Amino acid sequence: MWKMNKLLVRLYQVIEAEQKKHVWILLVLMVLTSVTELAGIGAIVPLMMVASYPEKINDFGLLIPDWLLVGNNLLIVSGAIFLVFIVISNLVQIFTQFFLNRFSQGVASKLGNRLLVYYLHQPLVFHLNSDSKQLQSYMINELDRVGTNIIAPALRFFSRVISIALVSAVVFVLSPIIAISLMAVLVGAYWLIFRVLRGRAENNGREISRLSTKRIQYLIEGFEGIRELLIYQKQQLYTDSYAKTNLQISRSQADNLTLGFAPHYLVELVALVGMLVITLSFMISMGGIVNALPWIAFYAMAAFRLIPAFQQAYLALASMRGSQASLELLIDDLEKSKLFRPGLIDEVDVNPINVIQLKNMDFSFNGEFKLFSKLNYSFFNDGITLLKGPSGLGKSTLANLIMGLLKPDSGEVQYDQQPSAYGLIGLVPQHVFLLNATVEKNIAFGKKIDPKRISWAIKMAEIDFLSQDGAQQIVEDSGKNFSGGQRQRLGLARALYQEHSWLVLDEATSALDADLEEKIIASIQSYSKNHGVIVISHSSAWESKADKILDLQQQHSEPAS
Ligand SMILES: Nc1ncnc2c1ncn2[C@@H]1O[C@H](COP(=O)(O)OP(=O)(O)O)[C@@H](O)[C@H]1O
Ligand SMILES: [Mg+2]
Repeated sequence: MWKMNKLLVRLYQVIEAEQKKHVWILLVLMVLTSVTELAGIGAIVPLMMVASYPEKINDFGLLIPDWLLVGNNLLIVSGAIFLVFIVISNLVQIFTQFFLNRFSQGVASKLGNRLLVYYLHQPLVFHLNSDSKQLQSYMINELDRVGTNIIAPALRFFSRVISIALVSAVVFVLSPIIAISLMAVLVGAYWLIFRVLRGRAENNGREISRLSTKRIQYLIEGFEGIRELLIYQKQQLYTDSYAKTNLQISRSQADNLTLGFAPHYLVELVALVGMLVITLSFMISMGGIVNALPWIAFYAMAAFRLIPAFQQAYLALASMRGSQASLELLIDDLEKSKLFRPGLIDEVDVNPINVIQLKNMDFSFNGEFKLFSKLNYSFFNDGITLLKGPSGLGKSTLANLIMGLLKPDSGEVQYDQQPSAYGLIGLVPQHVFLLNATVEKNIAFGKKIDPKRISWAIKMAEIDFLSQDGAQQIVEDSGKNFSGGQRQRLGLARALYQEHSWLVLDEATSALDADLEEKIIASIQSYSKNHGVIVISHSSAWESKADKILDLQQQHSEPAS
């Protein structure tokens, strides 16, 4: 219980100031709901009194106009007042529920927006060290569970506690003994049940969180690997794992639902027995059903409100327990995302970089295997520098270091004596990422579209495969309507369009035939007259055209001076 409280406090601190205000508005609304609820319960007493002993009506000392005493008028009016109270009470309830649900889903969605901003601005190392499927599961499953199973129930719990407190206070004023025994039975029963079951709910919640990530993984991999699955007829690898995980998730979810609802029946039984005892004792002590009726009705009304209130409060707690794991997973990142402000690169102030210097640079992944040790090298912006070396020696990693996507362990990368050029160097990766949008939008990639420049980039990248739609042709589903070589050329056009003073090509022509590669080399050669170009390639065509060569294998055997 304590842990949940702490988590809720942290969650409250993480939401926006505006939403914090709404929490308090909601609490006021909840008190209002409880008061009207209570008025509804209270309204039944005069009604029952009028019904039970109309002849004693004047004894109550109320000022009753004469017309009310004619025929059944009084009865009808009291009934109407009772009805009005009940209707108001239920209307306020509906409104509060509406507000509460809007609020809790709203909080979850705002948290989600912020979390995505935070994740997508994290450095590459963050993403290399985290499981993308898990982050996707956070965004899709866990946030949803926090909104639906924690925020809304937490508020509902408070609203129920307020009305339980009010109703039981009134019952207490009228009959302390009955109030205490009623409360003792209900609190005791639910508390016991909660103590016994909360561990299971929490464990189920943990299982649901763990398995949801797996389920997303099976889905993504299954669809991404469809070609291999079809070739090797191994769909079962995914359909079986998916089915198994799905079954486990559905069981845990179902069990948590049962844990929430099962006590209801038990407590209803206890309460029914309690009502019977109360009814009998009233009848005996008050000398007959007629005298006891208003009070019995009052207590029946109180129980009618109290039992569901207890059940809902319990249900809220059980649901929170069942999804506590989701909040535990998210809360650190939610806190970080609250403090996070994405830094913007000031595009106006970008000076072209003349030299990129690696100075005594060390780098290893996770401090394990040392990829570079005391690496020194200077890249100049006149001409093409070829970066070569056997596969797996660290060429792509070095490109990432040069672009500032990774940071050296020690030593540094300097850009004309500046410490950073983050976002100022273009890249054509071996596997180009394409948007589901037009070719034009893929090339501009968020920059303003300048048709002339688009044509220039298309020409430079030897893009000769477009349909009659030209640059308006649609790139479908990450580029599945283009070949590997065509995707590479789209990637090149994009990098050229971005107007960075440096360009890195990481095996960017590996899928092209010799003719096309020659043409692109010629484009890049002319481009390199006023841009820095670093090319990673195994091809001899590039080697013969390169102005300088950095051979990583030599760097390994004899560190450069
Ligand atoms: N995210 C990573 N975590 C740990 N090791 C990595 C990671 N990325 C690459 N490596 C390792 O670093 C080495 C260099 O990788 P890479 O730079 O891609 O090589 P190249 O581009 O020269 O073929 C490889 O041995 C690879 O196993
Ligand atoms: Mg590579």
